[in-house]
Amino acid sequence: MSADFEKYFQTVPPVLPAHIAIIMDGNGRWAQKRAMPRTAGHKAGIGSVRAVTEACARLGVQSLTLFAFSTENWQRPQKEVSVLMELFLRSLQKEVARLERNGIRLRIIGDRTQFSERLQVLMAEAEAKTAANDRLSLNIAASYGGRWDIVEAARRLAEEVAAGKLSPEAIDAERFHAHTALAELPEPDLFIRTGGEKRISNFLLWQLAYTELYFSDALWPDFREQDLALALEDYARRQRRFGRTSEQVEQVTRA
Ligand code: IPE
Ligand code: IPE
Ligand code: MG
Repeated sequence: MSADFEKYFQTVPPVLPAHIAIIMDGNGRWAQKRAMPRTAGHKAGIGSVRAVTEACARLGVQSLTLFAFSTENWQRPQKEVSVLMELFLRSLQKEVARLERNGIRLRIIGDRTQFSERLQVLMAEAEAKTAANDRLSLNIAASYGGRWDIVEAARRLAEEVAAGKLSPEAIDAERFHAHTALAELPEPDLFIRTGGEKRISNFLLWQLAYTELYFSDALWPDFREQDLALALEDYARRQRRFGRTSEQVEQVTRA
């Protein structure tokens, strides 16, 4: 999409990503290294969520999308899943006031029908309470899968076609994007995965088409502001070309 190229260089100072997406990985290993149960790592990871979110707000990053629980993570041992659900619940109860103080808007993306009624209600309440905040948009991906997101968008488009509201010819990348989970936000500029693995694990498949990828060996509970700073430094040195040549990019950035 050539529009991405124009939009990026015209509206965003290329040194600071407007949108960062993070796979928060390595909680289990963090705990196992300390001879603690895996769930202790999930608890410790909440501190990194706070630190990274608030650092992004201070720096002027506009959107932060965090992968908290994938559609595949439902297959983990039931005990681990239930501790994670308990942690979501408590975080939603405890952290909303803090989000409010920091001007952060919360959105939960993913298949919410999989969560308990109580969690679904808390999610909706937290979103409503923070809806007017505009310093940072924080998106938590929970029961989220990139394929789920694409299939949902396709289904909604198909429904509009079936209802006679949309003609198949009118479906293009822009309209498709408008039906995905992060429709209102710019696509991520920087993707970070902690924990050393180098894979996407069914995170934002559609949205990461031109995102810069960065991998950190730090385990998520250890990932703090300094680690984020390293990722941002690395990102600032990249040249994003969106399919063009270096010469073309240099012309635009000089202009
Ligand atoms: C990421 O950490 C958190 C979730 C997937 C919920 P992991 O639990 O995957 O930690 P590792 O990768 O096993 O160390
Ligand atoms: C990806 O981590 C999902 C989240 C961090 C929420 P996983 O630990 O589930 O990914 P794989 O299984 O190693 O690919
Ligand atoms: Mg993992």
